[in-house]
Amino acid sequence: MDQDVSLRAHRGQGRTPRAPMDMKYARRRAHHWAWIAALSMLVATDRVTHTPIAANNMPPQQDLFAESDAYERFMGRWSRRLAPLLVKFAAVDEGDSVLDVGSGTGALAFALAEAIPSVRVTGVDPSSAYVRYAQARTPGDRVRFSVGDAQALEIPDASVDKTVSLLVMNFIPDAKKALREMIRVTRPGGVVAAAVWDYAEGMEMLRVFWDEAVALDSTIAARDERNMPLCRQGELAALWRANGLERVEELPIVIELSFTSFDDYWRPFLGGQGPAGAYAASLSEPRRAALAARLRGRLLGTRQDGPFRLRGRAWAVKGVVPAR
Ligand SMILES: C[S@@+](CC[C@H](N)C(=O)[O-])C[C@H]1O[C@@H](n2cnc3c(N)ncnc32)[C@H](O)[C@@H]1O
Repeated sequence: MDQDVSLRAHRGQGRTPRAPMDMKYARRRAHHWAWIAALSMLVATDRVTHTPIAANNMPPQQDLFAESDAYERFMGRWSRRLAPLLVKFAAVDEGDSVLDVGSGTGALAFALAEAIPSVRVTGVDPSSAYVRYAQARTPGDRVRFSVGDAQALEIPDASVDKTVSLLVMNFIPDAKKALREMIRVTRPGGVVAAAVWDYAEGMEMLRVFWDEAVALDSTIAARDERNMPLCRQGELAALWRANGLERVEELPIVIELSFTSFDDYWRPFLGGQGPAGAYAASLSEPRRAALAARLRGRLLGTRQDGPFRLRGRAWAVKGVVPAR
């Protein structure tokens, strides 16, 4: 596969090195709701609180997204590859004013500014560390970032042309509330677009990780990101339609993840970012070594260490804000 990322239809090719385990539908749904319940505990009113999650021993969300450099090594490098594809899909125009919800370390906002010279972007994210990181790299005054929560945007009604969000909707405790906010701030005729990794199948970097982690310790199955909401085909589109967006379209967007070695795959998990990183970083040394050995075997087999590639598929959705 070419190193370049491309926007293309999924044709079912490119399985993970070993087929992911199938789980029974009922169990999957139970885990799905366990995730929603766990995430729901994070927000008291309109701010992400510092309440630890009790369910599944998950760390509080602000700890999942607190180390900017570690995030960049773990996921930011792939967000930057995915971002231009979402920009293209969202059909952002010259002169548009765009809101980036859950802007993180800035991948999508920077991709917007690079692709469309006259665009103006506001990024909002509850992680003050990520916001500071993005602010420090802001190219001029067309892009700005601030701390905020998608569920209570401090932005006037109908004030932006497009609202976009990359790899965020599944982490928001009340995604419906957030989407309503995204629609409120977007002008009629404007577009609301988002993308979320297909954790259950298409995001091989994380699929492989959780398959092996759960095989080693079945008690952590509920933490597998495959149980998160809005990551399966059709789920984002259903949410978009249910909230009145028009001309809704959903599309798989796919990138290739090229790793130079097993360490290049594994070490970024130890920075503790996101649910998988938090889990890896929490393990005792022997358990961590056992997981690394399984992953190495899964990814390299009997081959010598060296470069390998995985596929990352996300589901992207867009819809037009109706007249009001
Ligand atoms: C996987 S990161 C994606 C960051 C960035 N968009 C990217 O693609 O690299 C998930 C982001 O969602 C943010 N997030 C979590 N809850 C949120 C909320 N309620 N409102 C807005 N953003 C939220 C996190 O702080 C984190 O930056």
